[in-house]
Amino acid sequence: MLTRNSQILTEDYQNINHDGDDVIQGLTQTPKTLPPKYFYDDRGSELFEQICELPEYYPTRTEAWILSQYADEIAHLTGECELIELGSGSSTKTIFLLDAYQKLSRSFKYIPIDVSAGILKASVFKLQKKYPDSLIDGLVGTYEQALTQLATTVSSSRMIFFLGSSIGNFNPQEADRFLRQVAEALSPGDYFLLGLDLQKPQSILEAAYNDSQGVTAAFNLNMLSHLNWRFQGNFDLNLFTHQAIYNQADAQIEMYLHTHKSHWVNLEALNLKIFLETGESILTEISRKFDLAVIQKELEKHGLKTIKVWTDPQQWFGLILCQA
Ligand code: AVI
Repeated sequence: MLTRNSQILTEDYQNINHDGDDVIQGLTQTPKTLPPKYFYDDRGSELFEQICELPEYYPTRTEAWILSQYADEIAHLTGECELIELGSGSSTKTIFLLDAYQKLSRSFKYIPIDVSAGILKASVFKLQKKYPDSLIDGLVGTYEQALTQLATTVSSSRMIFFLGSSIGNFNPQEADRFLRQVAEALSPGDYFLLGLDLQKPQSILEAAYNDSQGVTAAFNLNMLSHLNWRFQGNFDLNLFTHQAIYNQADAQIEMYLHTHKSHWVNLEALNLKIFLETGESILTEISRKFDLAVIQKELEKHGLKTIKVWTDPQQWFGLILCQA
């Protein structure tokens, strides 16, 4: 599955098992849910890139600022190592890290991993031009597939990094399992760099997920288009509206698709017919907001010891470097 030939990436993508059991499970339970991984078809990944540019969506530029200030220090702390990025997307923020590691060695190795073949292919192509002496191997797959594969490959020193606070899209059980898999893919002395959106006032958080241009709404609704093409569905996007609220008690943004009219939906490829009541909502995403002290204890439970933490002046976002 690992390949430097970007043409093979699409084939790999088709090999991913999208059997939709998770869709059936989510839509037949009460309240209904859908797995956030279905946001990211090529259109969804493009919309997410647009979200990252929105004035209200502070996480991307805040994390980019932290990286711009501290990437050299991170590279200095870890020394030369193989760089593995989970959920790399377009790798825009990663440039700060790659520039820093290039100063240590021009022939550094970078493995970006993403479920979206289109975006990955474009970014591998761009990066190979920018860093001609480096070895860049794109891997198309889910985190789970990637981490399982990485756990069976022997490498020199490595740093796995997971930016953008994507860990916030996992519930606590999923996050626990994910951290266990990360720890299993690391050897003693290896590093893990984690980006985290921190707790802050509700108004700032809700504005970030209800942007004035409606890009987040389009991103949320696109999940239904994705399910329509992937599973021969007939979701009518006009019957749904986007909602995002901050659940203070659980410190998480919750994104819903709310229907204002009762109707049936058919997903032929899944042999699934579901009924939605007027006013019913489907939970499509949680985005947890973190407390740095609490997450450091979680990391420690998995044998990942904090080396250093960086934040921005407002303490809106955090970056933790830990060592296995
Ligand atoms: C990818 N993930 C970290 C984003 C977030 O903020 O939770 C996804 C997102 N959903 C709506 N806007 C952005």
